[in-house]
Amino acid sequence: MTGLFITLEGPEGAGKSTNREYLAQRLREHGLDVVLTREPGGTPLAERIRELLLTPADEPMNSDTELLLVFAARAQHLAQVIHPALARGAVVLCDRFTDATYAYQGGGRGLSVQRIEQLEHFVQGDKRPDLTLIFDLPVEVGLSRAAARGRLDRFEQEGLDFFEAVRSAYLNRAGQNPQRYRVVDAGQSLTAVQQDLDALLPELLERTLG
Ligand SMILES: Nc1ncnc2c1ncn2[C@@H]1O[C@H](COP(=O)(O)OP(=O)(O)OP(=O)(O)O)[C@@H](O)[C@H]1O
Ligand SMILES: [Mg+2]
Repeated sequence: MTGLFITLEGPEGAGKSTNREYLAQRLREHGLDVVLTREPGGTPLAERIRELLLTPADEPMNSDTELLLVFAARAQHLAQVIHPALARGAVVLCDRFTDATYAYQGGGRGLSVQRIEQLEHFVQGDKRPDLTLIFDLPVEVGLSRAAARGRLDRFEQEGLDFFEAVRSAYLNRAGQNPQRYRVVDAGQSLTAVQQDLDALLPELLERTLG
């Protein structure tokens, strides 16, 4: 038995967390075992690494350090949460995963795609999400939604160029593999976004229930 591994991606304020709850509810209505989780984090140890990644600090974090911490947290998360959940047939809904590494550390920080691919293979073997929803919206809209939430984390303190690069990297990846990615227009009202998610539901159910 293998479950379904769905990741939700997109920049700050795109609505990943809000819609992850919504999707989980819809899938549970169909009797599915749904595991909600997030990256960086998802286990107590990985959440401690998340703190290191998100908390602003006086010492600048080297980009390679950042990349290795992201994958260190991911190794723990896969071993403790994702692999066991998929092995028992659950649907895993994960708020950010390796596409975020390509977008933030690759697009945003400018680290090489080859380097990220090496670590992806090292940490994940052949494991990739079955489906990735990219919540796409204009950078300023996402940032203003995130700012309304309060104090900015280490990434949210970056400038517009950084987030434009993040957005392009996501869209680029989606364009290269339309089988795996669905781009959701996250700049719409929440009701409209959730209507789009409802339209995806039959496909999700079919992929899970076979
Ligand atoms: N379509 C929408 N229209 C207006 N506001 C929205 C929409 N979707 C989400 N929001 C609001 O924007 C804020 C950010 O949403 P949410 O926390 O789900 O984003 P996120 O993608 O998880 O962000 P982050 O990456 O920072 O965790 C929340 O206050 C949420 O209620
Ligand atoms: Mg969130």
